[in-house]
Amino acid sequence: MPNLSGKHIVLGVTGSIAAYKAASLIRLLVKAGAEVQVVMTAAAKEFITPLTLSTLSGRPVLCDFFDHSDGTWHSHVELGLWADLFIVAPATASTMAKMAYGIADNLLVTCYLATRGRVYIAPAMDLDMYRHPSTIASAARLREMGATILEAEEGELASHLIGKGRLPEPEEIVRRIEEDMDKATTLTGKQLLITSGPTYERIDPVRFIGNYSSGRMGKALAEQAIRMGAEVTLVTGPAQVLPTPHERLRVIRVESADEMLEACRSVTSYQIAIFCAAVADYKVAHPEEQKVKRESRPSMTIELVPNPDIAALMGKEKDKEQIHIGFALETHLDLEQVRDKMERKSFDLIVANTLEDEGAGFGTDTNRVTLLSRDGSIERSLPLMDKEQVALEILNTLPQLS
Ligand code: PMT
Repeated sequence: MPNLSGKHIVLGVTGSIAAYKAASLIRLLVKAGAEVQVVMTAAAKEFITPLTLSTLSGRPVLCDFFDHSDGTWHSHVELGLWADLFIVAPATASTMAKMAYGIADNLLVTCYLATRGRVYIAPAMDLDMYRHPSTIASAARLREMGATILEAEEGELASHLIGKGRLPEPEEIVRRIEEDMDKATTLTGKQLLITSGPTYERIDPVRFIGNYSSGRMGKALAEQAIRMGAEVTLVTGPAQVLPTPHERLRVIRVESADEMLEACRSVTSYQIAIFCAAVADYKVAHPEEQKVKRESRPSMTIELVPNPDIAALMGKEKDKEQIHIGFALETHLDLEQVRDKMERKSFDLIVANTLEDEGAGFGTDTNRVTLLSRDGSIERSLPLMDKEQVALEILNTLPQLS
């Protein structure tokens, strides 16, 4: 069983009669060595006092965006980044609907939206609410967005009706979370090489040929891999964003494709490489030493020569144990062309995204991708999702590739 020891857990408690079980849940999580930060909704405070939960968790319970007594701001972003796990238990129909649709009118839902860790939701409500299409739709949407719903149990409910809707016992919640985490892909002990961002190909000391890659997809992959326990070397072109620094993250900044190739080759041992960078296919044949003066050249022709194909070259040099994942950026999705690219570059998996999909590709926080494996065992078109979620989906395919 995985160890909850040292895990940072945000526990969201909402307004259900089952809120009293949060006390035992905290006790079990703390006993397992986790650090627990409780976030309550206003309604939850009607069922159990913050004093009880803060005493058990050893941390002040957070309910509001700021402390009314001294104006201290409770940063949902910091909490979201801190959390390895975000558990909502008990979760009411109302909180689930708010989470599903991003209605961030309380600290709990705002934290959820800022969370990058795994999310577990344990619903508790009356049976008619539990089986209402609205609740079923919320749960389905939350699942689609990566959350794990810990199904409610059958039994006598607060209304004295018998049916499904009971919050599982805290021991059962912890058991299910541990079991789920056990199944989750772990990259502990794995070394990953990830390329990211654009490359800039110099024309003269002030001008370059580049592209619109922001580095967001590469950042999401690096951060997600770190979260899954990997050691990551990120070779990045001049990207707009970089991953949050981490002791298991090494960042090598480069400018051109030639530099990116050299940096990749300097990474002598890795088990998994992900080629996410948008590498310029051409470079300037004769970059100028001095700034080209407009007056000196009324018009200008730049000769371009091909850049090295980093992924293809690294693919030729890889050994049988190494897994290479590539991207394919197309203006129009043609799976035959994508497969051809996978072959040419010796990718084990290719992630295709197209510029014709709104919200996908360059610069956006979201992406819509199709995953294809070389051996044909994976062929999945994913819906539009956050790049963090796309990164998780990509990394979760690794056990199938090895
Ligand atoms: O950075 P973002 O703004 O978040 O945008 C993300 C992204 C759109 C850049 C990313 O999702 C993506 O699609 N990256 C690959 C872009 C690309 O160059 O695709 P391609 O089809 O031209 O190249 C195919 C593969 O070969 C890629 O894995 C690429 O990294 C690699 N390649 C390409 C050319 C080259 N000279 N060397 C390479 O290694």
